[in-house]
Amino acid sequence: MAVRVSAPAAGQTWDPEAYARNARFVAELGAPLLDWLEPRPGERVLDLGCGDGALTEKLVAAGCSVVGADASPEFVAAARARGLDARLADGQALPFAAEFDAVFSNAALHWMKRDPDAVLAGVARALKPGGRFVAEMGGAGNVAAIRGALHEALARRGIDAAAADPWFFPTAEDYRARLQAAGFEVRRLELFERPTPLPGDVAAWLRTFAQSFLERLPEAERATVLDEVQETLRPRLSKGGQWTADYVRLRFIANKKAAT
Ligand code: BEZ
Repeated sequence: MAVRVSAPAAGQTWDPEAYARNARFVAELGAPLLDWLEPRPGERVLDLGCGDGALTEKLVAAGCSVVGADASPEFVAAARARGLDARLADGQALPFAAEFDAVFSNAALHWMKRDPDAVLAGVARALKPGGRFVAEMGGAGNVAAIRGALHEALARRGIDAAAADPWFFPTAEDYRARLQAAGFEVRRLELFERPTPLPGDVAAWLRTFAQSFLERLPEAERATVLDEVQETLRPRLSKGGQWTADYVRLRFIANKKAAT
């Protein structure tokens, strides 16, 4: 069967080395989600949006048989270099059927903005009846200060920032309803603030995560905009030289209902 693969979120590419430098915290802070999953030896698990495989590896170490899926060829190559079974796949058109005991996803679903319901339909298809979907993503209000400053900087230049914005950060109510409509029973779902210390300044974060916005600008103007956004955010997000991003997480456990 041909697998349809679309590029990662428009305008966003991933450099695994830069990611390891600037974004290792994504996997480190996502580790508690493994406790929600409670992986058991022998279980077959799909890691949706596996990135460079840092958490996928932990699922393998727990004794699971794991497939990682990601829309970035660079991440798939990095995950394979760890010895993982990583596949290039569009999260909005997953090619699996009734194969997995669990689907796990950390910090990936918010990049699948084009069709979040197609993501949930694909996850439901991939799971065996009763299988669980355990995930964490950005929720409503995530990086609101950063997002607002970016939108304003682009708007000042006459650029439609909404069209450049690649992120889907739903409310708890919105996502609960989508899960239920896709045939899941929601067992636990929480939206919580998680201020996130960054390894560098917010300009480094923007270069890693906000390429879709930056690419709307002429190359010669990008450094100026990064500076401008950073200075706008400094009073709010930097204390004593430590930058902290205003993350909000949506975390849930949902089970695919057995057919009735
Ligand atoms: C997040 O993991 O919350 C996130 C990732 C990229 C951009 C914004 C937020």
